[in-house]
Amino acid sequence: MSPEPNSGHFLILTIIFLTIINPSYSLTNTREILNKFKTNLANSNTQVFTTWNANNPICNFTGIVCNEESFVKEIALSEQKLEGTLDFESICDIESLEKISLGANSLHGTISSHLSKCSNLTHLDLGMNLFEGEFVEISSLRKLEFLNLNMSGFSGRFPWKSLEKLTNLTYLSLGDNLFEKTSFPLEILNLYKLEILYLTNSSIEGTIPNEIKNLVSLQRLELSDNFLMGEIPDGITKLASLQILELYDNRISGVFPLGFGQLVMLKYLDVSNNSLEGDVHELRTLTNLESLQLFENKFSGDIPVEFGEFKFLKEFSIYKNKFTGELPAKIGSWADFEFIDVSENMLTGLIPPDMCKNGKFLTFLMLQNNFTGGLPQTYANCSSLKRLRISKNSLSGRVPDGIWSLPDLEMIDLAMNQFEGQVGHNIGEAKFLAQLFISNNRFSGELPEEISKVSSLVEIELMYNQFSGEIPVKIGDLKKLTSFHIEGNFFSSNIPESIGSCVSLSDINLAGNMFTGNIPASFGSLRVLNSLNMSNNKLSGVIPDSLSSLKLSLIDLSNNMLIGRVPESLLAEADDGSFSGNPGLCADGSRGTRRCSPVSRGSGSGLGVAKYCFIAGALVLVLSVSCFFLIRMRYKDRENLINRNFSWHMKQFHIITFSEGEIVQALKQENLIGKGGSGNVYKVELGCGKKLAVKHMLKPTIDSASDQKSYPSSATILPKRKSRCPEYDAEVATLSSIRHVNVVKLYCSITSEDSNLLVYEYMPNGSLWDRLHTYQKIEMDWNVRYEIAVGAAKGLEYLHHGCERPVIHRDVKSSNILLDEEMKPKIADFGLAKIVQTNKVMDSTHLIAGTYGYIAPEYGYTQKVTEKSDIYSFGVVLMELVTGKKPVQPEFGENKDIVSWVHDEMKSKGTVIGLVDSYISDESKEDAAKVLTIAIRCTMRFPAQRPSMRMVVHLLEQVEPHSPFDIVIDNDIQIVKD
Ligand SMILES: *[C@@H]1O[C@H](CO)[C@@H](O)[C@H](O)[C@H]1NC(C)=O
Ligand SMILES: *[C@@H]1O[C@H](CO)[C@@H](O)[C@H](O)[C@H]1NC(C)=O
Ligand SMILES: *[C@@H]1O[C@H](CO)[C@@H](O)[C@H](O)[C@H]1NC(C)=O
Repeated sequence: MSPEPNSGHFLILTIIFLTIINPSYSLTNTREILNKFKTNLANSNTQVFTTWNANNPICNFTGIVCNEESFVKEIALSEQKLEGTLDFESICDIESLEKISLGANSLHGTISSHLSKCSNLTHLDLGMNLFEGEFVEISSLRKLEFLNLNMSGFSGRFPWKSLEKLTNLTYLSLGDNLFEKTSFPLEILNLYKLEILYLTNSSIEGTIPNEIKNLVSLQRLELSDNFLMGEIPDGITKLASLQILELYDNRISGVFPLGFGQLVMLKYLDVSNNSLEGDVHELRTLTNLESLQLFENKFSGDIPVEFGEFKFLKEFSIYKNKFTGELPAKIGSWADFEFIDVSENMLTGLIPPDMCKNGKFLTFLMLQNNFTGGLPQTYANCSSLKRLRISKNSLSGRVPDGIWSLPDLEMIDLAMNQFEGQVGHNIGEAKFLAQLFISNNRFSGELPEEISKVSSLVEIELMYNQFSGEIPVKIGDLKKLTSFHIEGNFFSSNIPESIGSCVSLSDINLAGNMFTGNIPASFGSLRVLNSLNMSNNKLSGVIPDSLSSLKLSLIDLSNNMLIGRVPESLLAEADDGSFSGNPGLCADGSRGTRRCSPVSRGSGSGLGVAKYCFIAGALVLVLSVSCFFLIRMRYKDRENLINRNFSWHMKQFHIITFSEGEIVQALKQENLIGKGGSGNVYKVELGCGKKLAVKHMLKPTIDSASDQKSYPSSATILPKRKSRCPEYDAEVATLSSIRHVNVVKLYCSITSEDSNLLVYEYMPNGSLWDRLHTYQKIEMDWNVRYEIAVGAAKGLEYLHHGCERPVIHRDVKSSNILLDEEMKPKIADFGLAKIVQTNKVMDSTHLIAGTYGYIAPEYGYTQKVTEKSDIYSFGVVLMELVTGKKPVQPEFGENKDIVSWVHDEMKSKGTVIGLVDSYISDESKEDAAKVLTIAIRCTMRFPAQRPSMRMVVHLLEQVEPHSPFDIVIDNDIQIVKD
């Protein structure tokens, strides 16, 4: 699409030179200069400038350091939430200025060439910002010792030439920018004082020059994530002070050069993801190594036994190579060993026993090798362990009992071995366990009831073992469970109705067991269920009508003893095998079953079917109908109770034209549109035709600890004792005062003794999640998705910046972004929101909250949430919008979610266009990919690296999709195309 003068396109090139040359323009007064500096940053959400006032001497300003003569020597404002632009024109008039530290802020705009006037600078840190355009010529900054532009947003050509004379540089970091490709910049080979050279992700191609050996002071050399090829040069072996060498994610080939073993100061060596080959015996002498990363190469041969003597080793990762032989038995038995990943090699022998000897061991990955023997007993006490993955080996014997209850363990993966024995009853103590993968072994016995105490469980895979007995009834307590696979075992008896309480379930596979009885009607309330396989059991009775409300992409009920009519809406989701092998089933569209007799057509009621189906089925049917009746009865009870209670109290937040009576009357079963963790949602249509959504939240009793969704046995459904309902309080506190087109409107709250009603505007197009992850996605081309992205971003921007006190939502996700009749997005569900208290200095909150797949990584180490955590979650939503994928999907690979998948793809391919949803039309793919790069910024690992919500809106608006007829405005150059 690039316009060429002769191609028939019109090309109008307008270059506007803004040359304001005013020689007398010089702010001699340092206070004035600093005030101007502050004005450019006026929108920053920071308190540093409170000291920058007329009463204070400038040397007392926060972030200003003066020298003995009280001249400004240093501007030290890193990590201060600064937003805005920098004007070096005046700053560099402060002649005494030696250091500028403005890293880890959200500064944007271009850098003016006036920077070159700052000739007394020794230290310049602009890293981790959002600048635009090219970096400027700085060859006059001869005194410079420290230059950090890492991850600062600069693009285009970097002025490498200007570094040539900066021979006092000891620290040079230019990584993670968007520079044009270049061969290795030979200019920096003069900088013999360099101790730290960081050029990761700097678009460098070609080979590493042998003259790298000139940089004799180097302690740290990072050239990762470039396009380097050829061999590791011999010259590198001369860098005797080197402690850190990072060359990962390149295309380097060949072997470790002879003499590499002389680099005995090395502590960190990472050459992963290259094409290196040969054995690694040259590394035998590197006894100071703390971290050795060789993964994803073509290394072969055995692991030198000397590695077992490396006393400082913490991390050892060699996965995806061709190593053979046994692991040194003593590996990891020293000091602080934390991490091993030797997966996907051809290693044999026993698992080394002592990797947890010092109690620091976190990650144990030995997948897909040929290890034999058992899992050593020594790991049964390894309470530090978070991940244990030894699947796809030839391991056998019983699993040491203590393994099941390790207190920090998040994942147990023993699949595809020959382990035997039972899952321990102590598993209830594994309070962080999210994934239990033990399929394809010889485990037997019952699934212990205590598994229902592991409330963190997200995935259970027990398939193809010899488990027997019943599924524990309490399984319904697992509210986070998304995937439950137990196919190919000997489970029997009824499938517990309580599975319907596992509200997050999206994938159920119970196939190939010996289940009897009915399909639980409660499955119909699993709102996010996507795949349901109960084939090859002995299930009987009719298919419950409640299943009609499911939106499934896979249903398989084949080879059971089901009877009656297949509900019509299920047929739409089925394929030919879905219902086959059930002689008593009939369906209107056939689908592998008999055609139903015409008499029953249209009746839809189970009773009508029963007359024409097997007599044997009739009994079951009566049972199931009465069961259905009971459920209806209980709903009726609920309704009655609501109606009986006359002491409703309404608080209104917008002008309304309805009464509480109208709302309360309408809370009937037929108006129920959703059930969520916090309550039921009803659609209410008023006399005037106006539609509302009403959330009914029950106040929890003090004595009922769990929020059991199964229907209580007594008629008292609403708890009697009064208590607080924090989600309700949060929702009212935040939403009642917010007015923004992209935030859902809360009209009023209505409370009574024991329940709370929240009345919202009705959003007819459901949630973004439903739109993206169901068949409805067909209607979601890029322009629709883009408008949703911008609208939702503006809603969040308002929460963070537009309110009197910032609001942190804490549960930003696509299912909390609702769509009105015009598909305009509105942020909803403020049940976890926090208003930042201005009387506290820290704008953070310490409660864990959020949804798996959307939670920012800092939760893991600080449990402290700021606005930046919302921004991470919003980045995940952007990724969903562009890729059409869910935040967590098995296809992303080991321990990966959508964020790591997108980031890795960006790193390895340098582009993300291949990840754009295939439902997005080809001509929009490029526009969509641009939004993905914004999503990458939003999901940076460190909160400070993420842009503010205000900046996100700004960035999104810059990538507005345009039709070919649009005028493209690129800075000062206008190109008009026909
Ligand atoms: C400025 O700071 C110095 C040293 O901390 C202090 O002694 C002085 O009182 C401060 N001056 C003002 C006006 O705050
Ligand atoms: C550098 O700093 C010194 C001392 O503060 C000053 O005398 C000199 O003029 C400065 N040089 C420049 C070019 O600003
Ligand atoms: C470089 O550093 C040395 C030693 O600190 C110093 O003497 C010299 O003046 C510096 N060079 C420049 C151009 O500032």
